[in-house]
Order: sequence, then structure tokens, then C-alpha cells
Amino acid sequence: MTDSQLKNLLRDMSLQEKIEQLVQLHGGFFGDVGMITGPAAEFKMSPNQPYRTGSLLGETGASHLKELQDRIVASQPHKIPAIFMADVIHGYKTAFPVPVAIGSGFDPELAEEIASAAAEECAAAGVHATFSPMVDVSKDCRWGRCMESPGEDPYLNSVMAAAQVRGFQGDDISKKGKVAACVKHFAGYGAPVAGRDYNVTEISEHTFFEEYLKPYEAAVNAGVKLVMTAFNTVDRKPCTTNKRLLRDILRDKMGFDGVVISDYNAIGETVNHGSSADSREAAKKALIAGCDIDMMSDCYIGNLKSLAESGELDEGLIDEAVYRVLKLKNELGLFENPYKDGSEEAEREIVFSKKHRELSRRAAAETAVLLKNNGVLPLDEKKKITVVGALADDRAIIGSWAIFADDSKTLTLKDALEKEYPGADISFFADDNASDEILEKVKNSDAVIICLGENQDRTGESMSVADISLPKSQLSLFSAVKSVNKNIISLIFGGRPLAIPEVANDSAAVLEVWLPGTLGTLGISDILFGKVNPSGRLSMSIPYCSGQLPISYIQFNTGRPKPETDCFIRYVSNYMDVPNRPLYSFGQGLGYSEIGYSPVRLSSEILTPGEKITASVDIENKGKMSAKETVQMYIRDVKGSVVRPLRELKGFRKVPIEPGEKKTVSFEIDCDMLRFYDADMNFTVEPGDFTVYVGKDSLTENGAGFRILEN
Ligand code: GLC
Repeated sequence: MTDSQLKNLLRDMSLQEKIEQLVQLHGGFFGDVGMITGPAAEFKMSPNQPYRTGSLLGETGASHLKELQDRIVASQPHKIPAIFMADVIHGYKTAFPVPVAIGSGFDPELAEEIASAAAEECAAAGVHATFSPMVDVSKDCRWGRCMESPGEDPYLNSVMAAAQVRGFQGDDISKKGKVAACVKHFAGYGAPVAGRDYNVTEISEHTFFEEYLKPYEAAVNAGVKLVMTAFNTVDRKPCTTNKRLLRDILRDKMGFDGVVISDYNAIGETVNHGSSADSREAAKKALIAGCDIDMMSDCYIGNLKSLAESGELDEGLIDEAVYRVLKLKNELGLFENPYKDGSEEAEREIVFSKKHRELSRRAAAETAVLLKNNGVLPLDEKKKITVVGALADDRAIIGSWAIFADDSKTLTLKDALEKEYPGADISFFADDNASDEILEKVKNSDAVIICLGENQDRTGESMSVADISLPKSQLSLFSAVKSVNKNIISLIFGGRPLAIPEVANDSAAVLEVWLPGTLGTLGISDILFGKVNPSGRLSMSIPYCSGQLPISYIQFNTGRPKPETDCFIRYVSNYMDVPNRPLYSFGQGLGYSEIGYSPVRLSSEILTPGEKITASVDIENKGKMSAKETVQMYIRDVKGSVVRPLRELKGFRKVPIEPGEKKTVSFEIDCDMLRFYDADMNFTVEPGDFTVYVGKDSLTENGAGFRILEN
């Protein structure tokens, strides 16, 4: 349809019909038309009214959605098709590693490939848009949804946001195998006070713009078609009715011209927040703020008509929102083909294809993070190995948002090891209790693999914890195993970093495997037996304990910086009981090959505005295995008109390197990447001294100084 046809359609629509385009309902409303019960009754909807709404969430399946679309189009006065949206966060039927793991891959091409695979599968199942990527910067692993985020760093999350938008959308969302992406949750949802989901946030203006907004901006710049508003408040105003956030920042400053959709009932919940007296005020505030679609509340459907007819609300705001929704449907090609890609034949061919199964395995191997290894890894198939811990045979390891995944296809670690190493002497005790039989077996083994952490049921939305320690049952299992065998390989499952100081101290090896997805345990077994050289790097810091939270490598010197020691020093900024730094820091991770780094070389020590300098290092693979080394570049602005972080990630590159090979890795530095919000919130760069670090993680001291001269 042409734009003028769209505008003619809009003009011909009744007010009621326009308002219905701004409502999104879940599938429970679309049962037997004659039976309006449950939520539809709560929404005071007539039997056929759900079929007049503009979009649905959570329904999939080509034949099911074709039938649903036929009923919807038939019910629509202007035959307008619905958009089918779903939470395809890190895979549809084939679940890939959770996003915090994908972030640990430090590989935007892998992230794009995963999003593209997820798009192919869900598009074949008739889905038109996905509520992904979730890109919330999250530094607090008490918050269960850090699992869904690429991690703690604004730059890494920005790179991952753009990569996933490209993967889901391609260059044309009407094309086969592509869907509209929805970046979420706008904004600052990853910073709930006390790490408790849905809580308010208290984010300074500088931190909000320097850190939390960056990944959404990257998604907007990548062309994301939808933005979802977050449940939380910013500046004491719920995001969903926050006009400065949605119009001034998102639309005017970032230039977003797509559709804004609320999170589930978030408009209605502004009454709970206490900023709307009732659903009528909530509806008015949300539309004026710039929220186009009301997901699963009855605020818009129940109030917009009377608000417009009474003159309390400018109908032009409704038209503006409806136009954006119609434009999205047009970009998806739904007016010409209301089913888009949906076809049972395509589902059979694409869903869980060999390509996607291979990707699920490879992605887990690329994103697991080897945190410690005294040489016990990689394992030799001829060794006697015992595997303990309930998680060894737990299928709930594909992520709490893998809601459409075919769980019958999930391989547990036990399944994977038995499948891949049928001839090996591996005993399994998928139990957290250390019976005498188990300990006897462990004692007589060459090595023991202990599976610790959380399965998917303890992570995800609303799954906040105050204490990120391992369960006591796992700690007692670990202590019993340690008493009879020192060659302990600890696998840490979970969607969040967990406090594992004892385990890290007493294990021979520690591998963070996250929630690896449908066939991810095959990738984990590839690492354990040396078929793959681990290359993951932490996308989130792993703290010593909950008391360090929120924590990130982005730190400030303070007026009383602590000298380099773990001892407590009075009257400086430190704890009496734990170090300041996390147990493992952002960007950390080991491989089976030692990679050497040369000192940093700069093409110049003076950076002139409008020009570039280059920071280079030579790396060398001193090991016997092919490796992928994630070379990371951090920059410190030593003095600013406001305090500046000790270092910020400004570039990274995952570099394949063969045994004995040397490579030069270079990063360009220009003034634009050094911009920050100064004392008056101007986005600018200031003259002065800078230090650039290039190394293997956020702790690297491999640095060199450069300067921007006073002009
Ligand atoms: C949920 C989540 C959001 C999801 C939406 C639709 O409450 O906050 O991430 O996309 O509802 O399921």
C-alpha cells in the first residue's frame, strides 16, 4: 500500500476502529467467540470485539495464526490484518544460549546469526514481530532478568543490540525469514533499586545518558521497528507515561519514528504506581506521553473514545499512533499478504533444522567462559570421570523465556556426554546428596565434574533474590567431593552470575556455562574434551557476594581511592570484609592456549579533533590449539568537568589465531568516541590526558597515554 493509501485508510476509519488498532491482547481473548469469560469479561468486551483489535501477543503456529487472521480480517470494517507478536528472545523452537551468554561471546556476528535463525523459525510459524532484543544494562545479578540482557556494559550491549536488530529484521522486514524487532525495556529497567524486579530506579542524569540509554539508541540507529516501555519509573515517573522519556528523548533526541508499545498492562499499572488516579487518566497520560499500543490493559479500549469525544484528548494523537501501527503493518507487507511467511511446509523445513541445531551447539561453546584451569582441562577420554550434581541431568537449562522451545529436544549434560563419548568411563550421579557410594566413586576417579548453580526456574522475570550464594545443598556436596578428590571441574549453570568464592578457590577448573540452550550441552562437552578452545569472556562481573551489588568494571576513583591491595585500609573507599573488585571481572575468560600481548603502540600521542590515532598490539598464540582471542580496548579520560570512569570499553575484536601465529590488532581512536555529558549535560569532548588500555580483559594495565590539546 502507498503512504497516501494508508492515510486515506486512516481517514476512513471510525474513532472506535482506530482505537482498537492501539490494543494488544493475548490469545486467551480469542477462544470461542460466543464465550466471553475471564480477561475478555474483565475488559467488558463484546464477543466479537477482540477480533477487531490491532495485534496479538504470544500466539504462534502457521495454521493456527492463519485461521485467527482470517477471523480477524473478516471482523475488521476495513479488513485490516493483525500483527502477531511473540517473545522470541533467544530462539523459537531451537533455544540458543540466554542473552547474557550471547553477550559473553563478544561476537556480534554470532549474535546476528542467532537472531536471524530465531527470526526464520518464528516467521515460518506465522509470527510477524518479536519482543526482542532486550538490551537493559544490568549490574545487579539479584535481578532475575539480567539473564535476558547482553550484560553490564553500555558499549557491549549497544553492539549486541544493533547486531540482533540486523539479525531479526534484515534490510526489509517484509522479506521471508525476517520479523520486526522490539527493543526493550525502555528505559533503565536493569537498575531496579535493591535488585528487586519492577522496583523504582534511582539513576542520575549523567549515568542515565552515559550508560543506560546507550543500547536503546544503538537499536534505534540500527532501525528497530518497535520500542517497549518498561515497568519501572525514571525520575519518579512510570516510563509508560513519561513524556520526556518517550517524546523528548526517544523520538526527538534519538529520532525514533516507529511504534511504542507498553509492557504487559504497564499503562494500567500506573494506577498502582500512584501517578494515575484511574484507567482514564492512565490512558490519557500514556497517549500524550507517546505510547502507541496498550498491551493487555483496558485503558485505551475503555477510555480513549470518551476522552476524544469530550475534547479532553486531541484525536490527532490517536491518529498519529494509529498511523504508526498501520505503517508497520504495511512495512511487513500484511495488507498484501496477511499471513506473511507462515506456512506449515516452511515450519517443517526450517524449525529445528540441522543448521539451527549446529548453531545451538556452536553458540554454547563460543559463549561459555573458562574462569579457572590448573591444567585439568581439557579432559582425556581415557580417564575415569564422575559427574555429580542434580543439574547434570536437568532439562530446565534452556532459559525461562524459551517458552516456545521444543523441550523434548533438550539435551542435558548427561545426555550430551553419553551421546558424544559412549566409550568413555564416565559415571553420573545427578544428585546433590553426597552418598558414600558417590564419594567412593569420586575418590577413585581421575577427575570429577560437579554441576552447580541454578536452572531456568530460578531466573527470569520477577525471579529476584537477595542472596546470590549457591544453595547449601550444593555447597555441602562440593565440600564432600573436595574431601576425596582435588581434581574438581565446576560447571556453573544459571542466568545470572552467582557468588562462588569457595568453589573458585578449591576447584581445579571453573567453567561458567550459563543456560546453554537446546543442544548447548554438546558445546559444553566439546570444551570439556578439547574439541573447542573456550573463547567466552564475562559480559557481567561475578561478585564475591551480594553485598558488592550492584557491581561493574565501570568504577570511579573517588576522593579516597584504595591502593592496590586486598587488605582493609581505614579511611579509604573499601570494605572491611571483601575486596572492592569482583571475584571475576567483566571481559575475563581463559582459553586452552596462552596468548601473549605486546605493549600498546600509538600512532601518535596527540589526538587532534577531526583526526584519528591508532592503538595497536601484537598478539601471539603460544599454545598448541587454534584460538579466538577477544582483544579489548578501554579508555580513561583522566580529568573532566565531571568525574569520569577509570575505564570504559570502547572497542573489542574476537580474533582467530592459529598456534604460533602472531597478529597485529589495531583500533582507531577519534574524538567522537570520547564524547561524554559534561557538567552542563552537553555531549562533548574536553581537552586533556587520556589512557588507552588494550588487553585480554577489563583488568589489563597494558596501556599508553595520549592527549587532546587545548585549542
Ligand atoms: C512481560 C515482559 C516483557 C514481555 C511482555 C510480553 O511482562 O516484561 O519482556 O515481552 O510481558 O510477554
